Amino acid sequence: MKIGVIGTGYVGLVSGTCFADSGNDVICVDIDEKKVEKMRNGEVPIYEPGLNRVFDRSIREKRLSFTTDLEDTFQKSDIIFLCLPTPPGADGQADLSFVLNVADQLGDLFNKYPDYKVVVNKSTVPVGTADKVREKIAAKTDTEFDVVSNPEFLREGAAVEDFMYPERVVVGTRSEKAAKMMKTLYEPFVRSGNPIIIMDERSSELTKYAANAMLATKITFMNEIANICERVGANVDNVRRGIGTDSRIGKRFLFAGIGYGGSCFPKDVQAIHHTAGQHGYDFKILDSVMKVNESQKVSIVEKMKKHYGDSLKGKTVGVWGLSFKPETDDIREAPSLYITDALGKLGVKMKAYDPEAIETFKEAATEDALNNIEFASDRDAVLDGVDALVICTEWNEFRRPDLENFTKLMKEPVLFDGRNLYDLERAEEAGITYISVGRPSVN
Ligand code: UGA
Repeated sequence: MKIGVIGTGYVGLVSGTCFADSGNDVICVDIDEKKVEKMRNGEVPIYEPGLNRVFDRSIREKRLSFTTDLEDTFQKSDIIFLCLPTPPGADGQADLSFVLNVADQLGDLFNKYPDYKVVVNKSTVPVGTADKVREKIAAKTDTEFDVVSNPEFLREGAAVEDFMYPERVVVGTRSEKAAKMMKTLYEPFVRSGNPIIIMDERSSELTKYAANAMLATKITFMNEIANICERVGANVDNVRRGIGTDSRIGKRFLFAGIGYGGSCFPKDVQAIHHTAGQHGYDFKILDSVMKVNESQKVSIVEKMKKHYGDSLKGKTVGVWGLSFKPETDDIREAPSLYITDALGKLGVKMKAYDPEAIETFKEAATEDALNNIEFASDRDAVLDGVDALVICTEWNEFRRPDLENFTKLMKEPVLFDGRNLYDLERAEEAGITYISVGRPSVN
């Protein structure tokens, strides 16, 4: 099929590349000329495992191309994906100006080239957006077209795999013609029998928010269980295994830590809470989720205050991991931003390392953090002479260090682990003071 993808951010680039890999002709269009030039030269503008390989192959086989020319892309496409930014507006509601502006231009193009096409909303957009896009286009043309909602469920760091092997594909449309085209497009990805679920546009739009809000709630629930574990002397690892084996609960997304971050959960929880409010419904559970998550992000600092008392000021602390999760350089809403800010304000000096996110961190961190932080070139360089180590992100390279290194290199082997990376027994044997999340403290 002929596919046009408007917007080459994270979602657009991954979707366009994977659609090309499954045999379609894909043109990706973006207004950023420099970015388009880079992609034309074979450069992938984001860090995403596995993307380079599929990207290179699709370009080599001439199924994937990049342009700034929306009109040409429109003419050559049967299905047009809108993968545009929907940043949170001042009131917490997603800002639709990018999406509606492009819809307006599409209206003119439908008028100029009157062939049936399907316009697909792939960005995460408030309920009712498909209708708004339809209205915008229809205001400019009488040409037949359909607007479909097709939310994405990709995780950063696993996006290519998630796209290639989705557990489900959700398509919101009441048009049989559009549904048929979408099914044809997605069939190669669901060969194992996973469903393509067709529903109305509004349910589809809400499905995306409901999925993220449910997952954020699940994590937050476990974080609260962890907080109780710490108070009653239980171990959240045991509780997680105890409940996760119940298939009604499920094993995944039950890992307690220092709060969820990233560009999706925080934004989407806020947005659906806001939508509910607009319709006169107080979505109380999400209110609590947001509040708990906020305090969970700095819970590790509270533990440090408790451990050190007034002597925390003037300490030098190592920080392992800055990105909001492993395998990405994304720093948006990362707990590290809040932790380094709080520590900076308390007069704590920091030495930090992250395999990918140091540069993005420098752009996003607060002055209080940056004035008190220096960056190290590797994992062990952070440990040299520090009073304590804080672990913010569970990168693989942090999972299996020689635990003796903590005793050898650090001034004092004191670990505040926000991701529960180490066995309590191993930490005990290695003589480390180990304070993690929802588990008894060691030494
Ligand atoms: C999330 C969803 O998982 C995707 O399905 C969705 O498509 C995407 O948002 C989106 O809306 O675009 P992502 O934000 O990339 O994906 O990251 P996740 O892997 O879901 O992690 C989100 C946060 O939850 C991270 O801060 C992570 O550390 C935290 N988390 C995750 C936990 O604290 N515990 C867990 O058990 C799992």
